Amino acid sequence: PKDVGIRALEVYFPAQYVEQTELEAHDGVSAGKYTVGLGQSRMGFCDDREDINSLCLTVSHRLLERHGIEPRDIGRLEVGTETILDKSKSVKSVLMQRLEPHGCTDVQGADTTNACYGGTAALFNAVAWVESSAWDGRLALVVAADNAVYEAGSARPTGGAGAIAILVGPDAPLVFDRGLRASCMRHAYDFYKPNLRSEYPTVDGKLSIKCYLSALDSCYQLYCDKVRERDPVSEPVTLASFDAFLFHSPYCKLVQKSFARLAFVDFLNTPKDRLGDRYKDAASFHASKLEDTYFDRDVEKVFVQLSKVDFEQKTRPSLLLANQVGNMYTPSVYSGLVSLLISKPISELAGNKIGVFSYGSGLCSSMYSLTVTRDTRDGSGLSKIITALSYVKPQLEGRHRVSPADYTRVLAAREHNCHIVPFTPESSIDNMFPGTYYLTQVDEKYRRTYKRV
Ligand code: ACO
Repeated sequence: PKDVGIRALEVYFPAQYVEQTELEAHDGVSAGKYTVGLGQSRMGFCDDREDINSLCLTVSHRLLERHGIEPRDIGRLEVGTETILDKSKSVKSVLMQRLEPHGCTDVQGADTTNACYGGTAALFNAVAWVESSAWDGRLALVVAADNAVYEAGSARPTGGAGAIAILVGPDAPLVFDRGLRASCMRHAYDFYKPNLRSEYPTVDGKLSIKCYLSALDSCYQLYCDKVRERDPVSEPVTLASFDAFLFHSPYCKLVQKSFARLAFVDFLNTPKDRLGDRYKDAASFHASKLEDTYFDRDVEKVFVQLSKVDFEQKTRPSLLLANQVGNMYTPSVYSGLVSLLISKPISELAGNKIGVFSYGSGLCSSMYSLTVTRDTRDGSGLSKIITALSYVKPQLEGRHRVSPADYTRVLAAREHNCHIVPFTPESSIDNMFPGTYYLTQVDEKYRRTYKRV
């Protein structure tokens, strides 16, 4: 099959949020720490009506419905998540409730987990299936979702919640570049969830940032090498090779620093005699080693400044959802794609090269690229994807603001009720967006039932 890639894309985020300025005041930290220091404006969250199953049911139903996809069109269904409700039963099997009544049970795929990377692993599985001898001509549906919550403390403002559904198939308007995938996988205890009775991770914040940046360095250098191997006479890859760059976004400030980091790698890869005037403030860093500079303030400052214009153009537009909803974990980098697609006129997206960096603690990471079709006519695949996403900005604005005190109460109740059965949720469903699935009950045998608004 030709042009295997993304044929449709939908996002879901909860209908309530906390304002980060209010959270700063509530937490007693200095004004600006979460908004300026971390670059976050609002944080979406789930009350007791939503869980990983409902998030995935909502977004997958939304995609099938809004894009006119019939259950018989789906040959593979994959879920990537790190929100674990059950150690055996997959979320994918829960989603089969949508296909099974139509007699469609011949559907491959199961859940994939590794922190924020599970969605990318699921997506790669789907692409591999379409490109493989096992493919039967049907489409693959990939769902990534998480409820990202942290215990009270410095990590709490970097939470979020949401879901993404991606339809993968041939002749797509957003095509995965073949043979150009760079990964970095290592063993690290930077962020993990060893306590199965808690929704909260165990986090070493500083180590997680170091791991993220070192994985980014490795993936980028390897991606550049792979392009060179494929085409030895091509121009070396630099940030200039990309029209847009998407990053997994734990918080937006880290993404800006990551973009600057790629500019720094470009600089180190440039021979000294070819540096030119642009780098006159940076020349003294040319002998630096990447691994000595993760927390080097001087390097960071110079390269954030040097890459600012490019960052505003190539990456800032992709941070709308990350800034407004927070870290959705597995969907985060794909919320970046949604944000990018709704940020500019379709003519400006035509033919774009989009770099993607996906990171999941523990750690798994990959960098790859997508090429956007040049066909931007009304009714084209790309135009349909973008038109279908027109609800995103109004829904972001249509959410309800909840006070930090009430948000804290919601999280305390989730802590208290975690794995307690039988359980009947109490939160109102009045404010949910139309089409949202909600939990009605967990019975004494831990079986969950849902309804749709
Ligand atoms: N105005 C402006 N900026 C401020 C203010 C203020 N009033 N106060 C602090 N800041 C800045 C700090 O200088 C710092 O900036 P820097 O990053 O450029 O140094 C930033 O705000 C954050 O402040 P810190 O004191 O570094 O924050 P803290 O250590 O309390 O927590 C952390 C930050 C570690 C990211 C924490 O939120 C966390 O653990 N989050 C979860 C882990 C995470 O997201 N890791 C990233 C990759 S792994 C993953 O995706 C889960």
